[in-house]
Order: sequence, then structure tokens, then C-alpha cells
Amino acid sequence: MNKLLTGKVAIVTGGASGIGLAAVQRFVAEGARVVIADVAKEAGEAAAAALGEAAVFQRTDVTDEASIQAAVAAAVARFGRLDVMFNNAGSTGDGSPVTEIKPAGFDATLALDTRSVLLGIKHAARQFRAQGGGGSIVSTVSVAGLQGGWSSVSYTTAKHAVVGMIRHAAMELSADRIRVNGIAPGVIMTPLIAKAFGVPVDRADALVAFLEKRLSARQALRRYGSMEDIANAAVFLASDLSSYISGTVIPVDGGVSAYTLSTSDADIAAAAQEFLKSA
Ligand SMILES: NC(=O)c1ccc[n+]([C@@H]2O[C@H](COP(=O)([O-])OP(=O)(O)OC[C@H]3O[C@@H](n4cnc5c(N)ncnc54)[C@H](O)[C@@H]3O)[C@@H](O)[C@H]2O)c1
Repeated sequence: MNKLLTGKVAIVTGGASGIGLAAVQRFVAEGARVVIADVAKEAGEAAAAALGEAAVFQRTDVTDEASIQAAVAAAVARFGRLDVMFNNAGSTGDGSPVTEIKPAGFDATLALDTRSVLLGIKHAARQFRAQGGGGSIVSTVSVAGLQGGWSSVSYTTAKHAVVGMIRHAAMELSADRIRVNGIAPGVIMTPLIAKAFGVPVDRADALVAFLEKRLSARQALRRYGSMEDIANAAVFLASDLSSYISGTVIPVDGGVSAYTLSTSDADIAAAAQEFLKSA
């Protein structure tokens, strides 16, 4: 059977950990060659070494334009071209509430979670244009880019802005057959989530086991999402299977952003029946 990404060259930002690392591994399994672009040198080099010739690590800070440009240049120097840009690096940023947030914290969150995506789109698109033949740009958004209430005001704003950026960039780049899409994960148990809740990263797996029952019961599909769920969507959007999809953000969240479970909550239904009996 043909692999989905045979012959393609991809950059995965934030590819040293979590969702990005899972995507790097899936991309390589599907035949791609990958540049792992991350600030985490040790983890990134280890991830690349485990994948042999198909992957290389390039230290990249996505808040820095020259660094992103260098990652694109590294892909071309090492593998001869670029076909897929996965703008995935990000973090929860400044978690301050609306009444406490300071401009510097807000700006830093947008630099990491929003401006980084703009720069990734910009420099990948320039390379795709120079090559001819189009390309695919995929960015990790979040359900916090579709709804309020998942995280802080700065992260929610940053991720909402990425949705607008994807829609607009898709229009500007369509004539070059460059597709621009996003993935909106629900809560995925990665080191990011452990950090966000103050749990040391080396205990992230134990946290998942601890939370499994509680989280699953709150998910529409009765299980929480995995990094592989997001990596699968990234493979699809990176591949030619999605060649007629552009300007869209696909929620990969088990359905949680599509509807609320609150009015169908079994406890409310049971309470209403009890009320009727007693009335
Ligand atoms: N985990 C979730 O539940 C969840 C949900 C929705 C969206 N997301 C998004 O998924 C993406 C990946 O998050 P994750 O959960 O895998 O987190 P993670 O912390 O496991 O991985 C993030 C990676 O990004 C790298 N990184 C951080 N700052 C960087 C910078 N300035 N330049 C380059 N690399 C940098 C880190 O070194 C790390 O390897 C983020 O954009 C995040 O907002 C995560």
C-alpha cells in the first residue's frame, strides 16, 4: 500500500514533545522526511536520532523570524525542498485573568501562539511559491480558538486569531495552490497539560492514568483524546487526500466543541422526573 506522505518534506515546529513529536513519528512512518524545529535541543536531537536519515533537528525559536527562516533553509539544504509546514509549537502562555493580565504577558503569549504561525505561513509560502506546485500548511489551534472558557484570556485570544489568519491566508495563497488549514484539539494529555496544572512533566503519564476515569466521563465519545488522534489529522491535512480542503479548522475533540452536554445531563433528567413525581 502506498504511504500517504511518500516523497514529501515537512517541518514540524514543537516537534520535540507532545503532539508535535507524535506528528513527526507519524509523518516519517508515512514516508515523509522531517525537520524537527524546536527550542528543546536535547529532546529534539534524541527524537531525530531515533528516526535515522528521515529526520533532522534544527534548533528553532518560533518567536524569532530569522530562526523560522533558517528552519525553512535547513529543510531545503538537507532534503532539497519543502512540501508541508506544521506550525505546532505553542504553550498556554500567560494564564492571568482578565483583570490582572499585563500587556507584556499578553504580548508574549501572542508572539508564541499567533505571530509564530504567521511567520511559519509566511516563510513556508515563499518557499512553496519559489518551488511551484503548491504545498500544505497546517497549524495547531485549539478548542480555545473556537470557544471561550477553555483557558486564559491571552491563550483564547491567541488561538482565535490563528483561526482568522488561516482563513485569510488560505484566500491569499490559493492561486499558488497552497492550502492552509488548522486542527483544533480538545484536551490532549501532553506535557503541556501537566505543566498547565502544575504537575511536573516527568509525572505527566501518571497524571493521565489518575485522571482517565474523570476525564473520559466528561468527553462526548467517553474517552479523552490522544496525541495520535491529532497526528492522524495532521497526516490527512498534510497529504494529498485533503487536496480540496483549504481555509478550514478541523476540531479533533471527540465532539466537545460542537455541542454542550449540559442539557442532556442524566442528572438533570433524573431530577426533573423526581420533581414531577413529587409535584
Ligand atoms: N495538549 C493539549 O491539550 C492541547 C490542546 C489544544 C491545543 N494544543 C496546542 O498543541 C500545540 C502543541 O502542544 P503540546 O500539548 O504538544 O505541548 P508540549 O509542551 O508537549 O510541546 C510543545 C513543544 O513546543 C516547543 N516550544 C515551546 N516554545 C517554543 C518556541 N518558542 N520555539 C520553538 N518551539 C517551542 C517545546 O519545546 C515543546 O517541544 C500547542 O500549539 C498547543 O497550544 C494543545
